[in-house]
Amino acid sequence: MKILMVCLGNICRSPLAEGIMKAKLPDNFVVDSAGTISMHEGEHPDRRAVKVAANHDVNISEQRSRPITKADFRTFDKIYCMDTSVYKEVLSRTENEEDRQKVSLFLEAAGKDKNADVPDPYWGGMEDFEKVFQLLNAGCDEIAVHLTSPTHHI
Ligand code: 4NP
Repeated sequence: MKILMVCLGNICRSPLAEGIMKAKLPDNFVVDSAGTISMHEGEHPDRRAVKVAANHDVNISEQRSRPITKADFRTFDKIYCMDTSVYKEVLSRTENEEDRQKVSLFLEAAGKDKNADVPDPYWGGMEDFEKVFQLLNAGCDEIAVHLTSPTHHI
């Protein structure tokens, strides 16, 4: 099972979601992340995201930002989007129903409110990054239980 976390820049939210989810899933799962824009391509995650993750013993410092590609829709089984605007953008790039079925809003898949967004912490401070970490950690717990449940089918 291959999972892709997607946000706007792939330097704050989705790198955190990737690092957190990797720590919760068995090794036979592949977890990666990408952004809908290529502005930060090749960059490591935002230093505040690296710091907040390290505070919780999650290492995201080696990750590099990359934009989502057409091939990702074939490679990955599940594509989780961090907010509704990213969700709409990712959906707009799908080419068939099979692709569309793979795409969901992260917090909705985690059983939270419909249309719930993981807020963008980029323009905020460390406390915003900590809040995002907590939201992602709780959401990843829910999704990991779902994905590893014996009754779950792709
Ligand atoms: P992310 O945060 O989507 O969580 O990685 C952002 C990163 C960069 C920008 C916006 C949001 N930006 O405008 O450059």
